[in-house]
This record gives sequence, C-alpha cells and structure tokens, in this order.
Amino acid sequence: MADLYLAPMEEITGYVFRNALSRHFGSVDRFYTPFISPDNRIMKTRAGRELLPDNNRGLNVIPQLLTNSAELFNEAADLIADMGYDEININFGCPSNTVAAKFKGSGILRDPDLMDRFLDGVFNGKDSILRRYPSFRISVKTRVGYNDTSDLPRAVEVLNRYPICELIVHPRIKKDIYSGMPRMEAFDYAVANFKAPVSYNGDIRSCTDYERISEKYRENITGIMIGRAAVVDPGIFRLIRTQTATTKKELYDFLQDIYETYKNDYSPENALSKMKEVWTYTSGLISDEKERAAVIKSIIKSKNESQYKDAVTVAFSRLPKIVENL
Ligand SMILES: Cc1cc2nc3c(=O)[nH]c(=O)nc-3n(C[C@H](O)[C@H](O)[C@H](O)COP(=O)(O)O)c2cc1C
Repeated sequence: MADLYLAPMEEITGYVFRNALSRHFGSVDRFYTPFISPDNRIMKTRAGRELLPDNNRGLNVIPQLLTNSAELFNEAADLIADMGYDEININFGCPSNTVAAKFKGSGILRDPDLMDRFLDGVFNGKDSILRRYPSFRISVKTRVGYNDTSDLPRAVEVLNRYPICELIVHPRIKKDIYSGMPRMEAFDYAVANFKAPVSYNGDIRSCTDYERISEKYRENITGIMIGRAAVVDPGIFRLIRTQTATTKKELYDFLQDIYETYKNDYSPENALSKMKEVWTYTSGLISDEKERAAVIKSIIKSKNESQYKDAVTVAFSRLPKIVENL
C-alpha cells in the first residue's frame, strides 16, 4: 500500500495545520513543508518557526526548498540537518509566473543544463550536505514539463545522474497550474524511466481515487500525496486507512484548534485571514452551489472573531452530518 503524504501548500499546510491534522485524525506518513526560499537569514524569518523542532515534535516532516542556487541550498541544508532533519525536498514544480520566470520551481524544467549544474552543486559541491551527512536524503517534487511534456525525458535524464531518493510527480505542465486532466502518460513515463522511487500527486479526493492509483501502480510507486482535498477534509488520510469518515464535530474541533493556534502564534488579523483561506476549501463540502457561495461569502466578509464565529455557525448548519468524501 502506498504511503500517504500531506502536500506542501504555501500559507496553508504549515506546522499549525500539520500538528492539528496529526492530533485529530492521524494516518499521514510524511508531511512536506510549504516551500522555503533559502537565504542566509533562513532561521530568522518565518521559515524558522516552520522548521523549529519544537513545532514539529513526533511528526515525520520533510522541509521543502525552492531555489536554483546550490550555494543557498547548501547553506540552508546545513542548518536544516543540524536541526535534526534527514531529508530535504527540492521544489521543481511551482507554476507561479514570478518564480518560473527566474528559472526556479517549474521554471527550471525549461533549462536542463541549469538543473544539471544546480544538482551537481547540491550533490557534489565542496559544501554539499552529503559531505557532512553522507546518508542525508534529497528528494524532488516536479511537474511533467514546462511548455509541454516533451520537456520530461531530458529532465528525467538529468535527474537520473544524481542519487535523488524519491521523485514526487504532479502530472501537469506549468501552464496547467492545478487544473485539467492529469497527464497520466507522462506520469507513466516517469515511473518507467526514473531510476529511484516515484510517488504520485494530483486530484486524489476520495478513497476510490487513492485505490485507483494505488492498484494501477502497485509496487511501482512509493507514496501518494494529497493537497487540496486534505484541506477540504483533513480526515481524508484516516478515511483511506481505516474507512472512518470525519464527523462534523471532529471537523469543528479541528478548525477551532488551528484558529486558536494561529491567534496565539500570529495575530488576530492573520489568524482570521488564514481561516478564510482554509474555508475556501472547507466550503467545498457543501454540495449545493448557492449555499456554498453564500457560506464562503459571509466568512470572507467577516471582519472580526465574533462575525467569523457567526458565519462558521451558519456554515456548519449547512454541512453534511458525516463528512463523506467528495
Ligand atoms: C494554494 C497552494 C499552495 C501550494 N504550495 C506549494 C508549495 O509550497 N510547494 C509545492 O511543492 N507545491 C505547492 N502546491 C502544490 C501542491 O503541493 C500539489 O502539488 C497540488 O495542489 C496538486 O495536488 P492536489 O490535487 O492533491 O491538491 C500548492 C498548491 C496550492 C493550491
């Protein structure tokens, strides 16, 4: 059975979310941090809070870095390894225009020579983390192309030159962003041609979706990563593992828990805006389109805690009793 991974989602699946998910529902084998852009102030910025061992006790967390500079990667990897982490995931998938224009994230897929130089510095450079920690693991999360899937064979050829421990593939190209049909032929190409384990990510929204991929690829994939559907229903991993659906009360307690921690660790304003972001996903549980639009509108409009709580009460009255998977 494929392992279950919580996807990195900027501003959403950080330490507050993953700790609460683990406490309330469990069943996640690996948690990936939202991307961290390394600079030499890495520990002084909010990335520090994200990685602090105290904020990640008992969780299997893999920090993700977004950069195309081996020097910055190696500096950050030193700090990360010293904090006790044993793996870093490299982001070769971010589709944002500002990121990709700088040949980072998915942008590096259009320059395989740059990818090669970067990975050479990461694995073989004089400051490579592997010189200090030879068993340190480096994995990659990627898309199946920049302009089209014809970029993939060259990327796989470059990736295969390095001892990357795992390739997590989201089978979309840059311009797909997160929509359209996953390009499964390109995923098959990655599975057949990448020499280390491959994991799948994209549009897993139910037990049936999980089983379809798990059965199709069996021992050919290591893990299945879930992003958006885990924000809609953080109990999806438990549902897949134990067939236990999330109850309304569990979902309420989970959302309340993350809100309280956000208020405590950030500010009331930030906490509110983070909850609004989460609710853009949670509201997906309401099947009636009009009701869903009304619920999300009143949550987004709330200006303070009391208005937010009133809007949440209404939202919960519209949610199904047992949160069946979509
Ligand atoms: C709001 C948002 C933020 C994301 N942030 C990251 C990120 O920091 N790093 C990353 O590798 N992928 C990021 N992703 C992509 C997800 O990890 C995942 O690949 C994508 O959502 C597809 O999986 P899903 O269909 O299960 O959601 C983000 C996606 C969304 C929607």
